[in-house]
Amino acid sequence: MKGESGGDGFGAAVLAGLAARPRRIPCRHLYDAEGSALFERITELDEYYLSRCEAGLLARHGGEVAALVGTGARVVEFGAGSMRKTRLLLDALTAPAAYVPVDVCRDALVLAARRLAADHPGLAVTPLVADFTHPLTLPPAPGDDPALAFFPGSTIGNLSPSQARDFLHRVARLTGRRGWLLVGVDLVKEPAVIEAAYDDRHGVTAMFLRNLLARANRELGADFDLDGFDHTARWNGREGRVEIHLVANRSQTAMVAGEPFRFRRGDAIHVEDCDKYSVPQFQWLARQGGFAPAAHWIDPQGLFSLHMLAVDDRRR
Ligand code: AVJ
Repeated sequence: MKGESGGDGFGAAVLAGLAARPRRIPCRHLYDAEGSALFERITELDEYYLSRCEAGLLARHGGEVAALVGTGARVVEFGAGSMRKTRLLLDALTAPAAYVPVDVCRDALVLAARRLAADHPGLAVTPLVADFTHPLTLPPAPGDDPALAFFPGSTIGNLSPSQARDFLHRVARLTGRRGWLLVGVDLVKEPAVIEAAYDDRHGVTAMFLRNLLARANRELGADFDLDGFDHTARWNGREGRVEIHLVANRSQTAMVAGEPFRFRRGDAIHVEDCDKYSVPQFQWLARQGGFAPAAHWIDPQGLFSLHMLAVDDRRR
């Protein structure tokens, strides 16, 4: 399992991504156990307003979400991570029946699911190790309890708009006619605020990004010198997104699985895009994805949005 890097295709992604031009390693590979722990540290940074704002929105408006969904919901969460926000949601809902967390990182998923289940007796918790950017099927459910998909953190911003639209369609199909989606979406704003969130002064985000290379060293027998790569986060105003790269700060050769990969100074590996949306932009995307906007909330500082979407029956 180790050499196979958890079976999530990490090795193949690194080899193909470093051979490609531009070089690219998809951001989902950031989340091994180490990377998931580093991301948790990011969520506690002053500059990283996203988690704080979203937690506040869930605490303030959870009751309104509960009123829309009704009793006995089956909650499906994509990219479940630590499940801290899940707890806020579950506490707000009326007698939720089941919780299905979906994540690519098996270790973090199973651990967090076990902890959450211990605190919620009577809730059926069934974790699913899967990449939610691909089609997935849920364990069969008895009765016709409403399904509430939960996609917090503005993780939807890691998908391009067309991937996001396809994802929304899959969620609509998955949750069915009475389905809902509660999704956190980071708002377009002053570029300096966004760039600081992705390039914090303590360098935690840089460590999070470099962990991709450290992971290759651990799992693929690579020999990346982590100091040879800088982390950059640049706002692209035309596309409305932050673009995150690892950039070689000197010429070097790294061996990966016995293959040499050469870098000149300035050569970049693209790792992540984080798309940001205004409320109307996101509502437009939601409609494209088969949902009808039902409600949305914004934090007092106007930084982050939480959208409640209903599966749009008339268009299915
Ligand atoms: C986990 C995808 C929500 O896009 O803000 C944080 C990931 N990357 N800092 C984000 C991330 C760099 C994060 N998401």
